[in-house]
Amino acid sequence: MILELSRIDTYYGTSHILQGVDLSVREGEVVALLGRNGVGKTTTLRSIMGLSPPRRGSVRFSGREITGRPPYEVARSGVAYVPDDLRIFPDLTTEENLEIARRLSPRKGYWNRDRVFDLFPKLRDLSGHRGMNLSGGEKKMLGIGRALMANPSLILLDEPSEGLAPLVVANLVEVLATIRGQGVTILLADQNLKFCRRVCNRGYILEKGAVRHSGGMEEIWADEEIIRKYLVL
Ligand SMILES: Nc1ncnc2c1ncn2[C@@H]1O[C@H](COP(=O)(O)OP(=O)(O)OP(=O)(O)O)[C@@H](O)[C@H]1O
Ligand SMILES: [Mg+2]
Repeated sequence: MILELSRIDTYYGTSHILQGVDLSVREGEVVALLGRNGVGKTTTLRSIMGLSPPRRGSVRFSGREITGRPPYEVARSGVAYVPDDLRIFPDLTTEENLEIARRLSPRKGYWNRDRVFDLFPKLRDLSGHRGMNLSGGEKKMLGIGRALMANPSLILLDEPSEGLAPLVVANLVEVLATIRGQGVTILLADQNLKFCRRVCNRGYILEKGAVRHSGGMEEIWADEEIIRKYLVL
C-alpha cells in the first residue's frame, strides 16, 4: 500500500468531522472519494496532507507514519495536493507558478516544465499569462501541472472535474491516464460518478465523516441503491 488511513478522527474546533475513516490505496491505483456535499471528502485529503491533522488514528505513506507531520514535510516525502480552490498565484505567470513548485521540491523525476506543457499544450500558449487571467479550466490544468512539478508519487486531487465543460472533462480523463501511466498514484475527491467511473479503479463512499461502502467503480456504478442513498448522478 502506498497510502493507508487507519481509523482517523479529524476535528474542526469542537466539530467531530471524520469519524474513524479507514482507507487504503495501492501503488499505481486511481481511487475515488465519493459522497455528497459536506461528507468529509476535502477533510480526508487535508488530513492526509497534514493541513487538518487527525486527532486520532494513523496515516501511513510508503510504509512510513506521517500522522501529524507538517504539510511541507508530507509534500517533500512525495505527496502533492491540488485543492479545490487551486491557489494559483494571481500575479505570477503560468510559467512562474510552475517554477515556484519546482523550486520548492527537492524531488527529481520525469516531470518538468516541458513535460507539463506537453501534457497541457494550452498552458504552453499561456506561459506568459498571469494566473488571474486564466479561465477556471486553465487554472485546473495549472493546478495539476504545478503538483506534477514536485514529482510526487501520490497526488491528492480535490474536485478535479467540477465546473468543467464536457470536452474539458474528456481531456482530463486522458490527462489523468497519462499521469498514472508515468507511475503516479492518484486519490481524488469528486462528485461526478461518470467521470470517476472513467478514471478510477475503486471508490470509497463517505457519509457523515465515515466510509459507508467501498468497491470497484463498476460495482458502484451498477448499484442503484448505493447511488440513491449516498451519491448524486
Ligand atoms: N474550516 C471549517 N470549520 C468548521 N467546519 C468545517 C470547516 N471546513 C469544513 N467544515 C465542515 O466539515 C464537514 C465536512 O466538510 P468537507 O469540506 O470535508 O466536505 P466535502 O465532502 O469535501 O464537501 P464538498 O462536496 O462540499 O466539497 C462539513 O460539515 C463542513 O461544513
Ligand atoms: Mg470538498
